[in-house]
Amino acid sequence: MGLKAVVVTVLLAAALSYYIYTPMPDAIQEPWKLMAVDATFRTGMNLAALKYHLGIDHYITSFRRTMEGFDSTMVALVGSRSPAGVVPGVKISDITFAGVPVRVYEPPAGGEGHLRRGLMYLHGGGWAFGSGKMGAYDKVSRVISDELNTVVVSVEYRLFPEVLFPEPFLDCVVAAKHFLSPEVLDKYAIDPERVAVSGDSAGGNLAAAVAQEVATDDSLSVKFSVQALIYPVLQALDFNTPSYVQNRNMAILPRQVMVQFWLQYLGADISLRPQLIANNHSALQHSALTPELRSRLDWTSLLSQKFKKSYKPVVVERDSHGLLKKIPGLLDTRSSPLLAGPEVLAKCPRTYILTCEFDVLRDEGLMYARRLKDAGVSVTSDYYEDGFHGCLSFISWPLDFDVGKRALRSYMTWLQNNL
Ligand SMILES: *[C@@H]1O[C@H](CO)[C@@H](O)[C@H](O)[C@H]1NC(C)=O
Repeated sequence: MGLKAVVVTVLLAAALSYYIYTPMPDAIQEPWKLMAVDATFRTGMNLAALKYHLGIDHYITSFRRTMEGFDSTMVALVGSRSPAGVVPGVKISDITFAGVPVRVYEPPAGGEGHLRRGLMYLHGGGWAFGSGKMGAYDKVSRVISDELNTVVVSVEYRLFPEVLFPEPFLDCVVAAKHFLSPEVLDKYAIDPERVAVSGDSAGGNLAAAVAQEVATDDSLSVKFSVQALIYPVLQALDFNTPSYVQNRNMAILPRQVMVQFWLQYLGADISLRPQLIANNHSALQHSALTPELRSRLDWTSLLSQKFKKSYKPVVVERDSHGLLKKIPGLLDTRSSPLLAGPEVLAKCPRTYILTCEFDVLRDEGLMYARRLKDAGVSVTSDYYEDGFHGCLSFISWPLDFDVGKRALRSYMTWLQNNL
């Protein structure tokens, strides 16, 4: 190799490690693996943005294809999803529930007359990506169906940019009401007293919103008996909670990406992002944001000192852009379940909420757990001090994380004991 080639190689290697390297908190146990995952996501986002600027593709659909390519590469490499499935006894059907596409996982038949559990699952992906049929979601649904004798219904709700709020929420409500109808429960031999709604991240947001909708709909004879929320998105009025500030540059879900997901979901312009990051949309001048409403997400009173540390609330006097009028979805409990009043929370079913230290969404999960408890709901708050956003999706070699496997085990044990 000539000197030139050596120099070029060294420079490329340096550029590559600089690109991959992101500082990680000491508590993260497999930092290089997480950096690799993060770099993959960033590359996908950057390639997508580049293609978009070149006018080739909408960046979301493009990133989605990158993700699907990544998923099938991993499957080909690792073989985590043989055509027959990892759990051979589980029967898979891709069908529709009242017009909404779902994948149903039925456990191996038990004894005659034995009723099974039911679980509706809503996948994450910022209301823009993902599918219950992909990677860890599919695998976990199969394992839950088999190990917990559960009929799992994973909902393929529509995504941005094809639809905006409230359409994804409404898809999930339609599927939920169909699932909870006595005929459907009967058809799948599901015990009506043992039906869960669950989801992670943006899917946790939809699960919490659907749980509230079902709990307050008096026309439904069967309700969800539990909700299990995994690092859910629950509010969009404060992007300066201690966890948002602490983890603003954290791998997988930095603050600016989460705010972008919100703006997309609510049909607003992405150029408003700096305003929202500055909390200008919840400025004191907004009379629609009453003190009562603010108290529902006031982390200075809802979080314990352990999480508040010495963080200070970011409260702005004036918003000269009328942001709340421009983006009415910001005040809608169907997008922000944390804004619901105590009378709604009191009707919610027994609850499991998983939160991670290294996640911008940690504090809203903790606050929702606290407010549900205050409203009289039985709540298990499962907090991981070495957890990061999305860790439950990383359970298969080579991108497996110990904390992801522990969290998944704990989530399943809770379902086993409470559903
Ligand atoms: C937030 O609002 C204030 C007052 O209207 C304005 O001065 C400031 O530039 C805004 N911040 C951002 C990031 O736009």
